[in-house]
Amino acid sequence: MKKILLTLAIAFAFAACKSTKEAAKTTTVTAKIDCTSSTLTYTSDIKAIIETNCSQCHNGNYEVGYNFLTEESVKKAASNGELLRSIKHEKGIDAMPANADKLDDATIRKIECWINNGMN
Ligand code: HEC
Repeated sequence: MKKILLTLAIAFAFAACKSTKEAAKTTTVTAKIDCTSSTLTYTSDIKAIIETNCSQCHNGNYEVGYNFLTEESVKKAASNGELLRSIKHEKGIDAMPANADKLDDATIRKIECWINNGMN
């Protein structure tokens, strides 16, 4: 009997943990961000983020698809949605940066605003 109760307790703990995580995820994805006052540009704001976090792999030397050393490639991934979806860890795409922590919210927000404002 004790064993059964323990198993149940563990199962519940897992279930509780899972639902909080999923709830948190939904909030990030659906949260509306206001980019109206943002004046981000590729050269002054985005390039450094990509070079620091992505270009050690996405540099044309490895089979990882994008070569993010080129602005054109960053804009391509930004336009088709893959850049944002990968850094937001959305389903159906590899979470980026690979083998590293998720970028902080402020950085993701910067990239999102840059894209929303037409990738200047
Ligand atoms: C440690 C190496 C590494 C780092 C750092 C890295 N990537 Fe990747 N990335 C990969 C690999 C490997 C793949 C190919 C995965 C595959 O094809 O399964 C990939 C694929 C991708 C894809 C295509 C995803 C898909 O599922 O088709 C995107 C978009 C991407 N990376 C964006 C980024 C961005 C943006 C950063 C920086 C924030 C980044 N990556 C950092 C290794 C890395």
